[in-house]
This record gives sequence, structure tokens and C-alpha cells, in this order.
Amino acid sequence: MPVIVDNVSFSYARNTQFESMVLDRISMKVEEDEFLVIMGEIGSGKSTLIKHFNGLLKPLSGKVTVDGYNATSLQARKLVGMLFQFPQQQLFGRTVFEDVAFAPSNFGVSGQELRSKVSESLKLVGLDENIASKPPFSLSNGHMRLVALAGIIAASPKYLVLDEPSTGLDPKSRKELSKALEQVRATGITVVVVTHNIRHVLPLATRVFSMKGGKLRFTGTPEEYFLSTPSQIQDIPLLMGELRKCGIEVNDGIFTVEEAFQEIMRIKRMSAAHE
Ligand SMILES: Nc1ncnc2c1ncn2[C@@H]1O[C@H](COP(=O)(O)OP(=O)(O)OP(=O)(O)O)[C@@H](O)[C@H]1O
Ligand SMILES: [Mg+2]
Repeated sequence: MPVIVDNVSFSYARNTQFESMVLDRISMKVEEDEFLVIMGEIGSGKSTLIKHFNGLLKPLSGKVTVDGYNATSLQARKLVGMLFQFPQQQLFGRTVFEDVAFAPSNFGVSGQELRSKVSESLKLVGLDENIASKPPFSLSNGHMRLVALAGIIAASPKYLVLDEPSTGLDPKSRKELSKALEQVRATGITVVVVTHNIRHVLPLATRVFSMKGGKLRFTGTPEEYFLSTPSQIQDIPLLMGELRKCGIEVNDGIFTVEEAFQEIMRIKRMSAAHE
């Protein structure tokens, strides 16, 4: 069952003269087993929307359910793991182990099972196990974010929601984070990422939901998103579309010049093999 946002409106300044809708009758779903990217201008309501997924905010009107449970219920909260933009907000342990162990130990996991859970989660996000004894605040920004991610994974969520996870990371840390998200997806966890730069998650993205002024602007595949967005990057999907129209079987998910080049070379090799 999915996360269902049904006709949700929200305002931070209820019953005051400042009241204006930050979310304006939003309806959307997060389907099981997808990698959904939420995009939109600054202040368009992205963070506000995802805070409804785990009941941090309650709708002014409308309803949010997670696998049929009201999003504010304990059952729903257990299903949704949330990584905020600044990992410092989520780390508090004296050691990385304490941090990653926090959620599973709250759910009653202990002893060897807990230790395995922690090391599995660290491994999944690409961190070395021996980082467990270090104080989290002694780590680099990128590694702190991965520790926070491991802590959420250790709680075995069904849905993982990340708000601007690559903000402030250098290119190497961004790659490590992308790799970690790829591993997380491979375990079958549904992922929702809020980002300003879809390129950071493009190879993983299956669907885009874009907002403007608290309203839905667009939803569709990444390719459809680029075609709907006036920018140079749409040239490549347009080219791929033209090739398809000519009967050439190009793969999905080709966005960059490099990817287009590789794809054209692949097709060339295939047709040479058939001759
Ligand atoms: N705690 C709050 N109290 C009052 N207004 C808020 C609060 N949080 C956000 N807002 C306002 O609600 C609107 C939507 O904010 P939100 O943070 O959801 O947008 P966003 O799309 O995540 O933006 P960004 O791209 O900057 O992260 C903005 O106008 C913002 O100023
Ligand atoms: Mg935000």
C-alpha cells in the first residue's frame, strides 16, 4: 500500500491575518518501490509536504495515510524514516554506534542482534564498521550525513524520505551518498528525495513530482519532466525521442551528452553485429 496524500491543504499561520496556504489541495501518492524526486522553487512547500508523510505536521484539511494508517499514528511513523538537511540535527550520541543503535534499541532490539543491525546499516551506506567507536561530530560533513542515514536504515523503514540530502556536500561526498541511496533502493526501500538538482539522483529516479506555490505543477517520469521544463537539458531527451520515432530502439533514462554518446555507440555496435 502506498503513502496517500488526499486533497491536503496546510497553513503555518492558522486563523491569523497572515494565513495563506503553503499547501493548496495537494493530492499525490508515493507508490511502493519507487524512487520519487520532489522538485520545486524555493518556498514552494516541498519540506512542508514531506513533513506530512510522518505526521510531523497535520493537514489543515484533507488526509495523509501510510499503508492505510493515519500518518500521525505510531504504526505509520514506524514505516517512514526521515533524513533532514542538516545531519547535526539528527546526531546526538557520544559514538556513531550509539547514534545508529538508537532507533532499533527503542524498538526492543538488543545484544548481538543490535550490534549486527548497526554494522549492517553502516555497511549498507558504505561506511567502515570501525567508525562505530568514533564520536559522530569528529567526522566529515559527508560521513555525518551517512551516519544519520544509517541510523534511519537501522530502524528498518519501508519509506525513506530525504530533504535536500546533498546540500553542502563536495562532489566526492555526493557520489558516496548516491551510492548509499542506490544500495538502500536495492534492499527494496521506497525512496523520496527533495532536491533542487535532479542530476544528483537522476540514474535512480523513477518519477518526478514538481511543486509551485503550494500546488502540484507536474508529475511524470524524469524524461517527461525535462521535456516540460525549458532548459538546455531537454535537448537530449528530444533527440532520443526523434530517434525512437525513426524506429531506433534507444533505452530510457538518457539525459546527458555522454549518455547519449554511449547509447548511440551501443546501437552502432548492435547493428554492426547484425550485418
Ligand atoms: N515554521 C514555519 N513557520 C511559518 N512559515 C513557514 C515555516 N516553514 C516554512 N514556512 C513558509 O512556508 C512556505 C513553504 O516552505 P517550505 O520550507 O515548505 O518550502 P520548500 O519548498 O521546502 O523551500 P526550500 O526550497 O527553501 O527548502 C514558505 O513560504 C516558507 O516561508
Ligand atoms: Mg525545503
